[in-house]
Amino acid sequence: MITKQKGTMDIYGEESQKRMYVNDILRSICEKYNYSYIETPVFEASELFHRAVGDATDIVSKETYDFVDRGNRNLTLRPEGTAGVCRWYIENKLYGNQTEPVKAYYIGKMYRYDRPQLGRYRELTQFGIELIGSDDVLADLDVISLAYNTYTILGLKDVTININTLGDKESRNNYRKALIEYLIPYKEELCEDCKERIEKNPLRVLDCKIDGEKDILLNAPKTTNYLNETSLNRYNKLKEYLELLDINYKENPRLVRGLDYYDHTVFEITADVPEMGNLALGGGGRYNGLIELLDGPSVPAVGFAMGYDRTVMAMTYTGVNFDTKDGIDIYIMYVSDTEKETAALLAQDLRLNDFITETDYLNKGLKGEFKSADRLKAKYLIIINDQDLENNEVNVKDNLTKEEEKVNINNLVEYLDSHR
Ligand code: HAM
Repeated sequence: MITKQKGTMDIYGEESQKRMYVNDILRSICEKYNYSYIETPVFEASELFHRAVGDATDIVSKETYDFVDRGNRNLTLRPEGTAGVCRWYIENKLYGNQTEPVKAYYIGKMYRYDRPQLGRYRELTQFGIELIGSDDVLADLDVISLAYNTYTILGLKDVTININTLGDKESRNNYRKALIEYLIPYKEELCEDCKERIEKNPLRVLDCKIDGEKDILLNAPKTTNYLNETSLNRYNKLKEYLELLDINYKENPRLVRGLDYYDHTVFEITADVPEMGNLALGGGGRYNGLIELLDGPSVPAVGFAMGYDRTVMAMTYTGVNFDTKDGIDIYIMYVSDTEKETAALLAQDLRLNDFITETDYLNKGLKGEFKSADRLKAKYLIIINDQDLENNEVNVKDNLTKEEEKVNINNLVEYLDSHR
């Protein structure tokens, strides 16, 4: 038997209904914030992610699905969505005639060769937004506000936005130097990867999955102590704005995120769900240097991505009501061939009039059809028989009260509408 791959999921039944519910909310909230839906390819040139996410990150050095296609191209299944959206922005020269920032959102599969465990998958879904073309702190606020309100509207009330700032290039460089100086004496206590990262990319040591929780790192210098005046003012403005909007945030001066492209604002979202430990439900930040790094002009941007699978899991653990539809509206029953034709006709009519309608595809006969109707939790049964058809009528039965009534076919939709 061929089974599914480690870290992947088949999503069906109740789980898929939950996702329909979540998708509707995501779409509706993105509309209100005026983000447009975008789909970019699942595979891209490997170089895109190497450059954007960074060679020294865990994501690129250990977790990408890389392959060579039949035309000898080096390709990678996307581990995240930001790089693809920036590639699209540059390739279509959207910077040329833009008078407004580009605001795009996506929901899609990402691929990371992670160690599969609760809340960690190799094929994962992310919902993400990117706001490209504004350096104003108001844009950072817009993104955090959308993120925060999305979790709240999805029913996760106890979410915290953990925020930090990496500052601009100058501040980051100052911090980088201080961090290298601090880490060198502890080199031997760090994992093999981190030993190499110290000089190459010391920020990555802070979010190492092996060393991340060690005391050495918990006592490491804080980014906020190395900010120049502009960066500090910016950070203070963001906090002021967050307070203005009553967004529940917590400062975490060691939050650096696992991707290289960030500067200034970074944030991660956690929820108080004991079963899930401290898995982040989402994260994001500002990436003013990324578009230029990918050969575009210097265009500032900010964004966020939600771990979709983890969020659905958190909603399930906390008992959120997914408002999933329980049962169908109508089950149509027939026996003879003429009755079957009417069944086909009525099924189409009712479906086009917004009723969830089902009928028998297996010629089960009445007894089997009654059983199916119960299994599918049908609210109404339409029982067709040839005698009634002579009067252009069908039998409509309320499956709860068991009351039956003959209804003229021409009045059927009206009748069922008045009984909704
Ligand atoms: P990220 O923090 O790498 O950021 O991923 C965002 C979220 O995806 C995480 O917070 C987590 O909930 C979820 N996630 C990551 N890896 C896995 C996994 N193996 N299994 C399940 N869920 C996972 C980004 O990807 C950035 N592109 C976010 C961003 C957008 N920054 C700016 N714009």
